[in-house]
Amino acid sequence: MTKKKKYIAGNWKSNKTVAQVAEWFGEFHKLSKNDISASFQDKTVIVFPSFLHIPLAVTLRDKYKLPIEIGAQDVSPFTSGAYTGAISADMLSEFVKYAIIGHSERRKNFLENDEVLTQKEARLKEKNITPIYCVPDKDTFVPEDVSIVAYEPVWAIGTGKTESPEIADKVASEIKKKHQECNVLYGGSVSPDNVADFAAVKYIDGFLPGGASLDPRKFWEIIIHASIY
Ligand code: PGA
Repeated sequence: MTKKKKYIAGNWKSNKTVAQVAEWFGEFHKLSKNDISASFQDKTVIVFPSFLHIPLAVTLRDKYKLPIEIGAQDVSPFTSGAYTGAISADMLSEFVKYAIIGHSERRKNFLENDEVLTQKEARLKEKNITPIYCVPDKDTFVPEDVSIVAYEPVWAIGTGKTESPEIADKVASEIKKKHQECNVLYGGSVSPDNVADFAAVKYIDGFLPGGASLDPRKFWEIIIHASIY
């Protein structure tokens, strides 16, 4: 069976201080340094710190020569200009190649809808940043040219309960029927203990762990165990 390229995308959400970001990178470097080329082969590993910590994360990634990308958890629906508090795609493009949009926590707590998410997707595209477009089910709207979709059932996020790999695989295959070229990631309580079960199914191309990615050891183990397919 040919090996599929996997995305491992760690969403730190609204967590970590400067000192904790530095600690994470130091630990991750120690854990991965002897095994880096083997375990990162055929994988795109991305870490999504808060906006505030993105430049620091880029500096630390470069310092430790880690083959990982740094991404953003969100983006403004507007271009740069008079939008107080907003972080535009133009600003992000100096640091990141990926950005999460449409996470269920943004949809719920910040009332983001399909219209605003479509604007965000367009802003990212203008700056060649790849969106990881999150949906809670197979029927939620996804803009046409999105190339990475993350299926994250709301009840599985941060609860320790996961979707079954079979159902997640079916949802991923349904999403791919509508968006044939896209990669589909699974998110919702992904851990070192369950990731291999999801890595074994046909239509899932990677993972979006939240809580487990905060711990460098768990994130490293997720990367290793995602190779078992
Ligand atoms: P979780 O979060 O791994 O903590 O469930 C996943 C996510 O919300 O992206």
